[in-house]
Amino acid sequence: MIVEPLLKHHWPSVKTIYEEGLATGVATFETLAPSWDKWDKNHLPFARLVASLDDIVVGFAALSPVSQRKVYRGVAEVSIYIATNQRGKGMGKLLLNRLIQDSEDNNIWMLQASIFPENLASVALHEGCGFRIVGKREKIGERLGKWYDNLLLERRSKKIGV
Ligand SMILES: CC(C)(COP(=O)(O)OP(=O)(O)OC[C@H]1O[C@@H](n2cnc3c(N)ncnc32)[C@H](O)[C@@H]1OP(=O)(O)O)[C@@H](O)C(=O)NCCC(=O)NCCS
Repeated sequence: MIVEPLLKHHWPSVKTIYEEGLATGVATFETLAPSWDKWDKNHLPFARLVASLDDIVVGFAALSPVSQRKVYRGVAEVSIYIATNQRGKGMGKLLLNRLIQDSEDNNIWMLQASIFPENLASVALHEGCGFRIVGKREKIGERLGKWYDNLLLERRSKKIGV
């Protein structure tokens, strides 16, 4: 598996993989993929990664800021998606570990993830990469008339600001 920067030309593959995640119903509250311009605006410019196998993009990961306040400039939210037919083969773990490394190289000291409790793979993935469950946020979001809980997970860097 090759991990390299996610660039605009990867967007069609990234969008397809994101839509496969949307289809699970437990990856995100979103229901539609954004345009490239919107995605580009909403994510930090560094630590944008795609994973490829034989030149086919099979996963991506990126970060978004959690606040505009200067004090929280080193806090970011993780997005990670692996193509349906490649899940459960260790690619998520490889990609998330690389994302963590890139985040620390860019002075991010806290990563967080909001995960549906039903998304056992994502909880296991994040815990396996050093995230801890901070707590369960009850009925935090509503989608199509149904309210959902989310787990808040975080990973505090041991390299930045210690
Ligand atoms: C969540 C996701 C990114 C995980 O990536 P993956 O490549 O499938 O995960 P990996 O194979 O690297 O496994 C990572 C860990 O999770 C565990 N795991 C994987 N699938 C699992 C499952 N279905 N149930 C329980 N644990 C699971 C693995 O055993 C592994 O644990 P280990 O480190 O103790 O061995 C992937 O399943 C995915 O893209 N899902 C849809 C999109 C999504 O939900 N994104 C996250 C939004 S918060």
